[in-house]
Amino acid sequence: MGAYRIIGGRPLEGAVAIHGAKNSVLPILAATLVCGGQYTIDNCPEISDVETAFEILRSLGCTARREGARAFVDTGAAEEREIPEELMRKMRAAIIFLGALLARFGTARLSAPGGCVLGQRPIDLHILGLRLMGADCEYDGETLRCKGDRLRGCTVALPFPSVGATENLLLAALACEGETTICNAAREPEIGDLIGFLCACGAKIDGAGTSVLRVDGGKPLHGTKYTVMPDRMEAATYLAAAAATRGRLVLQGAEPAHLRAVTETLERGGCEIARRPGEIIVRCDRLTAVSPIITAPYDGFPTDAQAPVMAAMATAEGVSVFEETIFSDRMRHVPALRAMGARITATERHAVVTGVRGLHGAEVEATDLRGGAAMVIAALRAEGESRITKTEHMERGYASFVRSLRACGAQIEST
Ligand code: EPZ
Repeated sequence: MGAYRIIGGRPLEGAVAIHGAKNSVLPILAATLVCGGQYTIDNCPEISDVETAFEILRSLGCTARREGARAFVDTGAAEEREIPEELMRKMRAAIIFLGALLARFGTARLSAPGGCVLGQRPIDLHILGLRLMGADCEYDGETLRCKGDRLRGCTVALPFPSVGATENLLLAALACEGETTICNAAREPEIGDLIGFLCACGAKIDGAGTSVLRVDGGKPLHGTKYTVMPDRMEAATYLAAAAATRGRLVLQGAEPAHLRAVTETLERGGCEIARRPGEIIVRCDRLTAVSPIITAPYDGFPTDAQAPVMAAMATAEGVSVFEETIFSDRMRHVPALRAMGARITATERHAVVTGVRGLHGAEVEATDLRGGAAMVIAALRAEGESRITKTEHMERGYASFVRSLRACGAQIEST
């Protein structure tokens, strides 16, 4: 079990390189299964979730390796097999292999996905769409069995713009005869990146960036070379860290257009933010509360930025009210922030944060990827020493997290 030791109380100052997006490279790695071929994927972040995706591909008979930030995948020899349960449980995103397996082999058999415990993580919308395409899906809450070797194009109207369901249906639609239309599709930039990758493989998909996606299925596909978009959630985390520590950071490689809701929220709190293509500069001398901060599907305030920004608002002047509308239980980081002196009252969906003048170090345990990042941010602000355990949560999604923070003056070490 990993741990971070942090001595806080100093502003972060310096430059941070933003890596490739976890939530884009994972569906892209799954998509390499749809068509047997060779793929070179650049800006592939060195995080444990990517290693898990490599293990899944290898368990299916593919080769997957990396040289730094360049990944090489060959899915030509992929065989129709069940993904080992222990791999499914390591990462919620493994469910994205469902659509790829169905498109490639006409069958898929997966155990229930694992990953962050953010409350309910059902897959009913994935199954709804696949059944409309003609797949026969059985799910007992533990194992999902899908069969569908003659999928047909259809119109799927998603009741909620689920990111994962949109991704799975896009991949399955590649094998459908005819056109598939996905209405109320997720519009997150990672969906656009997946569509960019699939079109580079020869797919015909219209509507990227909109909530109506059209896939002309049955096209011949091929391997490709592709560069993954920058990780907007990694960037949001460093923006929140700069705000919390009243520092100044240059986020190199960040895409400002992907982070409007977060940067505007922090500007309302008094941060100065400069935006250039491929760069965001943030400076914060004084932080005031922002209310309400309500999470929403893109391009609303992203749920993955809720915990990191809450850690910053813990020492803002005034009261910030957060409402979490995407996940049913995404306030699991609140007790740890309280242990550091934050004044927060919370239910499963709401939190009222009354800013305090300062925080103090504490020993806390990371609960999930973004909640753990919030604890790091609070510890960087806190006077004194903190110890954060279960840092394997953060290693899932933040490449060179400790090294990047140390380069900006943070007193942090992995122990
Ligand atoms: C993706 O999760 C991201 N993960 C999450 O990031 C992110 O928070 C989320 O999208 C929302 O933006 C990856 O891309 C790997 P959803 P996903 O399907 O696909 C409900 C991180 O920290 N729902 O949009 O699981 C679901 O319960 C992670 O990097 C159903 O009800 O998100 C949730 O309440 C955390 N039925 C809401 O929709 C379904 O069939 C959003 O889920 C599917 C989802």
